Amino acid sequence: MGATLHTPLQIGGTTTVRNRLYRAPVLEGAGDGDDCADRYAKHFVENARHGVGLVIQGSSCIASEGRSSPGMTLVHTRERVLRLAPMVDAVHREGAAIWLQIGHGGIFAMEAWHQPYASQRQGPLVTASPPRWWLKPLFRRAPVHAMSTDEVRAVIRKHGEVAAWAREAGYDGLQLGSSNAKLLDQFLSPFWNRRTDEYGGSHRNRARIVEEIRRSVAEHAGADFTCTIKVPIDEHAPPLTPRTTWDEGLELARWCEEWGFDSVTPVEVSVFPDTTLTRGGVPRSLWDNKGMKDRFAKAAPRPFERKVIEAGYWVGGKRAPFKPVWNRSRFEATKRAVSIPVFAVGGIRTRAEVEAILDGGHADLVGIGRPFYAEPDLPRRILADSAAAGDPQDHGLCVNSNLCVPAQMLGMKGACYNPAVVKVRSRG
Ligand SMILES: Cc1cc2nc3c(=O)[nH]c(=O)nc-3n(C[C@H](O)[C@H](O)[C@H](O)COP(=O)(O)O)c2cc1C
Repeated sequence: MGATLHTPLQIGGTTTVRNRLYRAPVLEGAGDGDDCADRYAKHFVENARHGVGLVIQGSSCIASEGRSSPGMTLVHTRERVLRLAPMVDAVHREGAAIWLQIGHGGIFAMEAWHQPYASQRQGPLVTASPPRWWLKPLFRRAPVHAMSTDEVRAVIRKHGEVAAWAREAGYDGLQLGSSNAKLLDQFLSPFWNRRTDEYGGSHRNRARIVEEIRRSVAEHAGADFTCTIKVPIDEHAPPLTPRTTWDEGLELARWCEEWGFDSVTPVEVSVFPDTTLTRGGVPRSLWDNKGMKDRFAKAAPRPFERKVIEAGYWVGGKRAPFKPVWNRSRFEATKRAVSIPVFAVGGIRTRAEVEAILDGGHADLVGIGRPFYAEPDLPRRILADSAAAGDPQDHGLCVNSNLCVPAQMLGMKGACYNPAVVKVRSRG
């Protein structure tokens, strides 16, 4: 048992992972200041020291106006990416590989609702197509602009440029932040994408943007630079509206293999940035935690707006309760559909779950997200040989309350915000 967990894996041309456990991308709130490399290092170096094979850095933004959180780091210039190199080196010194995840918030960039940023924004919110008429009242802070074909091509090129800078900074590879209702997801999803050019219409056309990004990454960063993607499968959308289906998700995974992506991470998503991708409790910290409440009031001074966001979180939390290993059917089906490595993520908490996924050949790498906030040393226990560990606890303290989730949209540090968990942790 557990042999696969410790078996190294080569992914694409530039990534060798020493074992099969990875830190899933969860926002660190490292921000965009000069100290962001140090802030990331505080999270990642300890994970690496405790044995994690691969760190996927939480989403960084490829455009100056596209961040979905004030705590997000910008990687839109070479200088901005290269300043992260010392952190990348520090992670490597501890034996782990590290990928940069890149994305853009599109219509859900923070200026859509975050008043202080909305008032400074230079241009409109960008997305695939104008929002449906009944969603328009939600986007009154900033005008929404459906990208022209040339603008789509510029975004494709930008992904390639950022990939080249990431390689220069020492990253082992890249993951496209193509789920979670972000810009690429807005192109993939028929709920948002109603374009009539070559980037809209059929599923094949909606997926064209990721095909061309893959090509752009190869052109700019080299065909061997590891490039990977998150694949939304069976998307949640309001009744009677179109959505990415199960079959389309699997079809996309197959195309991604054809187009040269080096791994896929199949995930459950919603057309809205709610807690579908982090199944668990209602993120009540937004109205219960004083620090968050105050920040929220400053970000969205209009009570109506706050109520809409709170209602979205409440409904999302009620509709998506925690289920252990909730993406299992997705990664198992994807594993049967492709021959590139498949990543498992979502509600994986115990060593037994990790080993069963790997030993059963249901996925090739297993990711853990939220639990690392409270326990950066968790990899040590997951990776320990059961017989020799002498450590009865092989799973995290995380109770999936989702109290960490609002911190990201408010630009706070990525951390555990559940007082009960923090208390247990501080007792050691
Ligand atoms: C606060 C927070 C921030 C997240 N940020 C990202 C992100 O930047 N990119 C991404 O692809 N997924 C993001 N996720 C989703 C995680 O990668 C992961 O898929 C999800 O938390 C489920 O795994 P878990 O149950 O082990 O936490 C985030 C999740 C949380 C809780």
